Amino acid sequence: MKIAVAGKGGAGKTTFSATASRLLARSGRDVIAIDADTNPNLHAALGVSNEAIRQVPFPPTTLVSRSFDGPALNEPIADVLDRHTLVAPDGVRLLRMGMPEHADEGCLCSAHAVVSALLGDLDAMPSTITLLDMEASPEHLSRGTAREANALVLIAEPYFRSLEAVKLQARLAAETAIGRVVVVANKCRSDSDFAGITEFCDNYELDLIARIPWGDEVLDADAAATPLLDFAPASPVVMAVQNVCDILAPNSLIGQAS
Ligand SMILES: Nc1ncnc2c1ncn2[C@@H]1O[C@H](COP(=O)(O)OP(=O)(O)O)[C@@H](O)[C@H]1O
Ligand SMILES: [Mg+2]
Repeated sequence: MKIAVAGKGGAGKTTFSATASRLLARSGRDVIAIDADTNPNLHAALGVSNEAIRQVPFPPTTLVSRSFDGPALNEPIADVLDRHTLVAPDGVRLLRMGMPEHADEGCLCSAHAVVSALLGDLDAMPSTITLLDMEASPEHLSRGTAREANALVLIAEPYFRSLEAVKLQARLAAETAIGRVVVVANKCRSDSDFAGITEFCDNYELDLIARIPWGDEVLDADAAATPLLDFAPASPVVMAVQNVCDILAPNSLIGQAS
């Protein structure tokens, strides 16, 4: 199963992806977390230091060849994962897409193509759950980076511009083969915050599946440079992320592709 996580910048994609990855791994799943943000920071949210992550090379763009059906890996997926993943806390395997090394070096289309090809080949590992922490830009949909995902989770904050970003990404996703597009309300400080998101989703026929509350402990964890799951493991935010995991990847799906 391959779950892409998207939404407006700052909505909580990385916090959610890291926490969900580790919770799923703790429940016995084989989990791969892909940092598909060209400003990568999923490693920090998982609890991996900058020094450790620097030891693991980005997958080179030469790993991909273009075919009629889209990008394809030209090496076995197991070899690629061996070379380009690092084992994060709870056994999550972390892979980073890439980032610009220098100013003026041009677009990162090839790095996106690597992720797309990798996701395609992950179908050969049906019991693995892959979480893809996307960048805020909807380009992951226009470039097709997330086209091989089975589900797209759109993280929404209770304000109009965040919801508009979710609406745009849902519309683009509907033009792809991604089977399931859902919205998760994040940073809800009140019932009226959630009611606003619910009304928006009803108006635009978006599938709102869960509510994650605002939690001061999320900011405190950031300030302490500690993953939320280590800082406040029993917090309402962690419980709510667990609930999303239970909805998206119930134990009954272990061993199935989607
Ligand atoms: N449920 C929440 N309650 C409070 N703050 C949150 C919550 N989720 C995320 N945040 C905070 O929001 C900011 C952006 O989160 P992040 O996960 O980096 O977003 P994104 O990856 O979407 O840009 C961070 O400061 C994070 O601590
Ligand atoms: Mg992020």
